[in-house]
Amino acid sequence: MIETIARTADYIRGRVGEMPDTAVILGTGLGDLVNHIEIKAEIDYHSIPDFPVSTVEGHSGKLIFGNLGGRYIMAMQGRFHFYEGYDMKQVTFPVRVMKALGVKTLFVSNAAGGMNKEFRVGDVMVITDHINLFPENPLRGRNYEELGPRFPAMTEPYSQRLIAMADAIAEADGIRLMHGVYVGTQGPTFETPAEYEYFRIIGGDAVGMSTVPEVIVANHAGMEVFGVSVITDLGGKDIKEVPSHEEVQKAAIQAQPVMTRIITEMMQRL
Ligand code: HPA
Repeated sequence: MIETIARTADYIRGRVGEMPDTAVILGTGLGDLVNHIEIKAEIDYHSIPDFPVSTVEGHSGKLIFGNLGGRYIMAMQGRFHFYEGYDMKQVTFPVRVMKALGVKTLFVSNAAGGMNKEFRVGDVMVITDHINLFPENPLRGRNYEELGPRFPAMTEPYSQRLIAMADAIAEADGIRLMHGVYVGTQGPTFETPAEYEYFRIIGGDAVGMSTVPEVIVANHAGMEVFGVSVITDLGGKDIKEVPSHEEVQKAAIQAQPVMTRIITEMMQRL
């Protein structure tokens, strides 16, 4: 594993040269941020040795290097989901590679279903914490001390400093920015009404099928993490609307300007 990470990192360094200390993982329907990056280099996932290839509709797979809000960053356009059949090591491999390239701060975005009764479709939620309901932890198996500790603390999985920064931006811009706990599930089914209810009762505000594995590995690797969810549908026992991939994408696309604004401004302030 260590050698594979190093080999992939070497390949990327050879193709791109300058390496950023900040990375962004773009979720479903949230690829618009890329249009705000002054692109310096791009690499298709399928040309990177040992990189998995994205399969889901709405996820094109490439690494993008360039300037966003005046900061040099790398972005993953398209991520790997557990429900696609990748194992947890594959899902989180890009985060390992980012760390090897020198990334210290990781931004993650996703589309999520809202359980919090205050939430509306199109809301943007800063992730303050998560609940891992994936059937497997990405750190299961042999631990490599050079990558991180055997038993990593998860007391501040999402950086308080970055949450405060996002709040300040939202306040200055009059943006409605929600806070909440993200429940990570394996999917690919959306939840039953009883499951949305259950996730709300255990402390969740939104639920989705990504992010948690990457954030666990980023914490293991000592990165500072910022996460944001776009609420693309609502779930619960009184909610009759049926979520679909198309609706999720549509709602995410509509919320993109707010997400883009917050992340771009954060890049300036970092
Ligand atoms: N459930 C799980 N994942 C999701 C949802 C949802 O309602 N919406 C977008 N991703």
